Amino acid sequence: MKLVILTGAGISAESGLGTFRDAGGLWEKYPIEQVATPEGFAADPALVHEFYNARRANCLTSAPNAAHDALARLEGTLGNDMLIVTQNVDDLHERAGSRSVWHMHGALNRAKCAVCDHSWNAPAKMHPDDPCPDCNTAATRPDVVWFGEMPYFMEDIYDRLHRADLFVSIGTSGNVYPAAGFVQEAAAAGARTLELNLEPSLGASSFDESRNGPASQIVPEWVDSLLRG
Ligand code: OAD
Repeated sequence: MKLVILTGAGISAESGLGTFRDAGGLWEKYPIEQVATPEGFAADPALVHEFYNARRANCLTSAPNAAHDALARLEGTLGNDMLIVTQNVDDLHERAGSRSVWHMHGALNRAKCAVCDHSWNAPAKMHPDDPCPDCNTAATRPDVVWFGEMPYFMEDIYDRLHRADLFVSIGTSGNVYPAAGFVQEAAAAGARTLELNLEPSLGASSFDESRNGPASQIVPEWVDSLLRG
């Protein structure tokens, strides 16, 4: 069985990382256009670095929860037949032991030069004056994908969706494309589709099946049922 799993902020919520669109979520406190667009970075790079430095610090003091652990356990059985595509910039899947994880929206622990595109491991705190280790320009940015930019791995993701037998979406509101369209893409190619989310997402009706509840509970339950066959 070939399995593609899409994860979003909801899977890391119980690890203490904020979601974006729930009440009190990150986009209520920080305007998207200021901290998650190339224009926002050009206007005030210090503010953008402050936002991602705070998120990186939050990530460093958090730990994977039972949902991340269950997916790592599942990969232990399915091996290369399982892929996690995550919209999350945290590294909790990797810290739980998952190995096949594609960060389509980039990663908090990576830095990138806005001029030459060179990328490297991010320090705990980044600053607008940090020079690129390759071209030496002071144009260091977090290696995260902002609104208006192309997410990573898209061609390979569509290839895996088209070959999937099962597509599972976990902890994502279905607000942001292209990820929100993965369910239709996988279904059109013949995959069964399942949503695991606290509540029905915007796209819930596109899935064959939905299970609702906190990820730390419903993800291990689903993994156990899959492993029992
Ligand atoms: P959202 O904040 O939009 O949605 C989080 C989803 O997780 C919601 O549907 C919640 O109901 C659900 N949720 C919350 N707590 C949960 C829990 N304990 N268990 C299970 N589900 C829970 O976050 P995303 O869908 O990940 O992009 O957002 C997608 C993208 O929008 C992000 O990658 C980010 C953001 O703008 C960029 O910054 C480019």
